[in-house]
Amino acid sequence: MKKLFFSVFAFASLMILSQNACYYDNEVEQYGVAVCDTTAISYSQDVLPIINASCISCHVPGGQQESSPFTTFEEIKNYSDVILERIHGVGGIMPPTGPISDCNQSKIEAWVRAGTPNN
Ligand code: HEC
Repeated sequence: MKKLFFSVFAFASLMILSQNACYYDNEVEQYGVAVCDTTAISYSQDVLPIINASCISCHVPGGQQESSPFTTFEEIKNYSDVILERIHGVGGIMPPTGPISDCNQSKIEAWVRAGTPNN
């Protein structure tokens, strides 16, 4: 029942904020009820796979946004504060197609708050 309400609410939101419609819908379906573990976040196990899956296609030499590449730990670490802002839409949402899942946002946030460890 809760889920139904949430779906209806999400759909209603879509009608108003039509820009991210399809994306929003999928996000609720895929991640709305998932458990998100943000304890003991690892750069290599948690953060890097998210960057590789959602960001690297453009943020790589030869890519659309090669001026800010995310190909090494140092590069990702140096951009970590801005990455945190952009995945939440501050200054423009990243990736441009729509936000990554709430859980992945939380994981990157936990890693930045932990001081961007190389673990
Ligand atoms: C489809 C291509 C594309 C993808 C995928 C993408 N970006 Fe971007 N990104 C860009 C472009 C183009 C810019 C420059 C324009 C702007 O700042 O909005 C940018 C800019 C940025 C900036 C600011 C860079 C600077 O020099 O200030 C950050 C940080 C960023 N993206 C993070 C991310 C993160 C994190 C992801 C993945 C979650 C991501 N981007 C995925 C294309 C992309």
